[in-house]
Amino acid sequence: MSLKAFNTFGIDVTARKFISVENVEELREVLKNNYASDLFILGGGSNMLLTQDIEKTVVHIDMKGIKIVEESDADVIVEAMAGENWHEFVLFCISEGFGGLENLSLIPGNVGTAPIQNIGAYGVEMKDRFHQCTALDTQTLELRTFNREECKFGYRDSIFKNAEKGRYIITTVNFRLTKKDHKLNTAYGSLDTYLQEKGIKEPGIRDVSEAVIAIRQSKLPDPKRIGNSGSFFKNPVVPREISVKLERDYPEMPFYKIDEDHVKIPAGWLIDRAGLKGYREGDAGVHSKQALVLVNYGNATGKDILELSGKVQKTVKELFGIELQPEVNIF
Ligand code: EPU
Repeated sequence: MSLKAFNTFGIDVTARKFISVENVEELREVLKNNYASDLFILGGGSNMLLTQDIEKTVVHIDMKGIKIVEESDADVIVEAMAGENWHEFVLFCISEGFGGLENLSLIPGNVGTAPIQNIGAYGVEMKDRFHQCTALDTQTLELRTFNREECKFGYRDSIFKNAEKGRYIITTVNFRLTKKDHKLNTAYGSLDTYLQEKGIKEPGIRDVSEAVIAIRQSKLPDPKRIGNSGSFFKNPVVPREISVKLERDYPEMPFYKIDEDHVKIPAGWLIDRAGLKGYREGDAGVHSKQALVLVNYGNATGKDILELSGKVQKTVKELFGIELQPEVNIF
């Protein structure tokens, strides 16, 4: 069966077998009857590049449901099942008046995969609103709860990408959100500018969500029309000496201080400055409005995209001496 419709890059590879599971019991059954190493767990397919056919059984996590598990005057804990679409979940929270996730509007993917790479945008990371998640242990078939500390969240990072990679399948995620006195985060450059230009002086959570949607739509390709996985690379964190040297040649270079000795440089800026924005080889390309995003114009294979990413890495390394690390998972 083709996986083209199940990965946002729109790569046409096949799966040996494909199963959808709608609840924990069904997932447990599949794990009982198969070796975990023979399964390929698929969520929203929004952070992966498939470079070959999957000679495994693909298990599509299609568990749906949202409920409120705890509530006070000031805040609420909302639980969503792993198969809920992330953006629809964010819109649900906004329509209920629950604040906290508005900056994360329109991020592709599902709720269950959001913690794995600690999705983030416009000054907010998922970990900031995360309460806990439940995951099925593929070894014991028991459910286990992870609190925020246990997830060891970092920039686009968590325990599920490192020490516990492949062991747990996230089934539900709980978020602590505000019902009043929302703590809006509008300091991120382009967000602040957008709200000011619109003359919105006292934004609410819906205004922030709408602003984020408008900014994303102006820069990021819609995966329904042009295949992509959002940022293909992480923004590199480099020693201060390197950025000081680069600043001499490129005084306009944007960067963010991480600590006394390290700064983060936008990979999109490096790729753009290297002259690769809008670059295209066949159907594989560097997006013309945000150089950090690689795109599939139609029939690119995973290998085409991978080759292009190698070229981007090589060019940036030669020009700036900085190694870009992929943010997407490559299979
Ligand atoms: N820039 C350029 N040229 C480009 C792209 C960016 O010069 O082609 C410059 C911009 O002008 C700006 C800076 O680089 O000064 C940063 O750009 P932007 O605000 O677009 O954010 P980013 O650092 O490129 C990150 C996330 C995005 C997230 C945005 C907004 C990563 C890897 N990416 O991108 O996340 O939406 O910030 O918060 O951290 C994703 O992870 O898939 C994703 C889209």
